Parts: sequence; structure tokens; C-alpha cells
Amino acid sequence: MARRQFPRWSELRPFLRTNPPVWSARERRLRRALTIEDLREVARRRVPRSVFDYVDGGAGNEAGLRWAREAYAQVEFRPRVLRDVSKVDTSIELFGTRFEQPFLFAPTGFTRLMHHDGEVAVAQAAAEMGIAYALSTMGTTSIEELVRQVPDGVKWFQLYIAPERPRSIDLMRRAEDSGYQALIVTVDSAVPAKRLRDARNGFSIPPTLTMRTFADIAMHPAWWMNVVTTPPLDFTSLADWNLPLAELFPRLLDPSVSLEDLDWVREAWSGPIVVKGVQTVEDAVAIVDAGADAIVLSSHGGRQLDRAAAPLGILPDTVAAVGDRAKVLIDSGVMSGGDVVTALALGADAVLVGRTYLYGLMAGGVDGVRRSGDILAKELHTTMQLLGATSIPALGPEYVHRRDAR
Ligand code: GLV
Repeated sequence: MARRQFPRWSELRPFLRTNPPVWSARERRLRRALTIEDLREVARRRVPRSVFDYVDGGAGNEAGLRWAREAYAQVEFRPRVLRDVSKVDTSIELFGTRFEQPFLFAPTGFTRLMHHDGEVAVAQAAAEMGIAYALSTMGTTSIEELVRQVPDGVKWFQLYIAPERPRSIDLMRRAEDSGYQALIVTVDSAVPAKRLRDARNGFSIPPTLTMRTFADIAMHPAWWMNVVTTPPLDFTSLADWNLPLAELFPRLLDPSVSLEDLDWVREAWSGPIVVKGVQTVEDAVAIVDAGADAIVLSSHGGRQLDRAAAPLGILPDTVAAVGDRAKVLIDSGVMSGGDVVTALALGADAVLVGRTYLYGLMAGGVDGVRRSGDILAKELHTTMQLLGATSIPALGPEYVHRRDAR
């Protein structure tokens, strides 16, 4: 048995080394967030509940949202050992551009509601990380203003095909003139979905003043102060924004959109066209036959059709069907770098993340977005090293296994 002795100061000192103090409260909050879930918890405390719920929630009873996430948890890794993983290259090439990471920041609506720096903060962090950022039709910073404020970095533009087609064509022209490099056409939103959290919270843009709002102001004074002292929330494509979400959507969405619409989109846009919201292999084939350069398998983060199947489930079959003719991207349910690796191993060319950076944005503006990107990038890097894969093209299906397929 070990003999006990009284510790000497010189022996204790190495254990007592402290890190230099971090004076900024925001910096302390962000440093404590080790995962995207941690950032989500910080975000929950920073913004009014209706704002958090708009980001965090989904359609209906949110089964589609849960399933999109659970699909990742059903895949286990098959690591290879004794490989030199001292150097890992996480970059990818997409449409002739090299990106530092295999993920990009997805288009999200109303982003200045989550934090007053909104789209500018997200584009700034994306540019620093060497990844693309897609501005939404429902962005709260205009196509031109975003480029003025963040001239660096690759930008894509996301389009909803509106009932008034000239309006959509005009948006595409403005995006092309401003140097946006690819167009994402979202096709999973024929009509607005029923988002119960938003309906129950009375979610509206701008927030309406009710008794509950006043209670919210008391709880989140900084958020409110920033909203009222920065330019009013506005949309690039809708001037009359002072409406509840359910009434805003129909102005932008058109249930009559069909495959043929991709023809005039092709004529109006000369760069790559990415069709987002594909949920079956049959549609993937039809859309690639119609000339799309890429598709995004997506259930819109569980925010449109509730009980939509998890996009990850159809990834391998989709890649087998169209992977030689088009890029296959994926989103919905991605919450970690390990999830990104899983999608890449199953054949995705790149992964879009939306909520992950929005949690960061709500938690701490541009620093929070940076933190979210950093968390994903580090998790991705470590996962690849422990898997024994040193580049993205090297990641293949041999690195994964469905847990229930034994
Ligand atoms: C917009 O695309 C949303 O999902 O709210």
C-alpha cells in the first residue's frame, strides 16, 4: 500500500496553474459550449422563446425533425487503425471552387431576428472559414447589402419560385449581378407547413406587443434593445412584412410550380443550379434529367412535411442513381461533425447546416457562428483521424454500418 506523505508546495503548484481570465461574458459563454447542443442551450437563454422556437421547432408534431436526427444515430462507424492520420485534408471541390470544409451554411429565413447582425455575421464567419453561405429569399439583409458588407467569401442565393415569376427572375438577376455563384431552388414548400410552436407563440415579424411580449422584454432586454435600435427587419422580396409568418409564406410560395419551371430557371441563371428539398430517388432522377447540376436531399430540417422520411435513408440509393451526373448534397438533422462524416461516407458530396449556426448566432452573434463552425470542424477532423480517413474523397461506405443491419 502507498505510504501517505504531506504534499510539498512545489508538487502542488503544477496543478494550480490557472488560465488567464476571460473578461468578456459572451466569450466565456461560448467557450463553455463544447457541442452544438451546448450552444443550443445558451441560445435558449439569450433570445425570446418565440424566436428560439422558430429556429428549434419543426412542422406538426415534429416527427420528421426527430427522425432526421435519429437516422444519424443509427449509423455506426467502422474505423481502420494503424494508418498515418497525422495530416487530414477536409477540403472539397464543388462547381470548380475549393472549400476548406465539406459543409456549408444553408439558407435560413429572418436571420436578423436571431441576432441583429444576422446574415452579415453568418456570411462573415463563412468567409473566414472558407465555406459557402447561401442567402435566403427570406433574408433580412438584401442581396446587394450582404456583398457590400462582406465582399469576401463564396455566396450562393436561394430562391423560392414565386407566383409572380418576373419577381423571381429579377431576384436571380440581382444575385448574378452581385456575384453569387450558385442558385439553390427550394422545391419542398408548395405551401407553408403548420408549425405549431409558431402558431402557439403568436410568432410574428416584427414581434407584436402583447402582455407576454412585455414579460419577454424584461427577460431579454439586450435582444430587444438590439432589435429596436437597428434597422427594422425587412425582406429582400417582400415589402409588406408586417404579417404573421403564415401570411408571409403564401406571397413567396406557389403551389403550381412544376418540373417544367426548371426550364426558365435554367435560362435565367447561367451558373450551377442546386435543387433543394428532394425526398425520393425518383424525383432525384427526374430533376437531374431536367438539367439540375446538384440536388439537396432535404426534409427542410423537418420544417415542411411532417413525418417526412429522413434524407439520410435515401442517400446511398440516390448517389447510385444520379451521383455520376450531378452532385448530391444533404441537410436536415445534422448536429455534429460526426454526422457530417456519416453523410459523406454514405456518398454525399457536401452537407448543409442551418440550425447549428443559428444556435451559435443566437448564443453570441458572429462569435457564436464562428464557434459553431469551429465545433463542427474540430469534431469532423477528429472523427476522420479516429476513422483512419485522411481526405474527403477517401471516405466511403466501408467506414459505416447501419446498427440494425447486423
Ligand atoms: C424557411 O425556410 C423556414 O424553414 O422557416
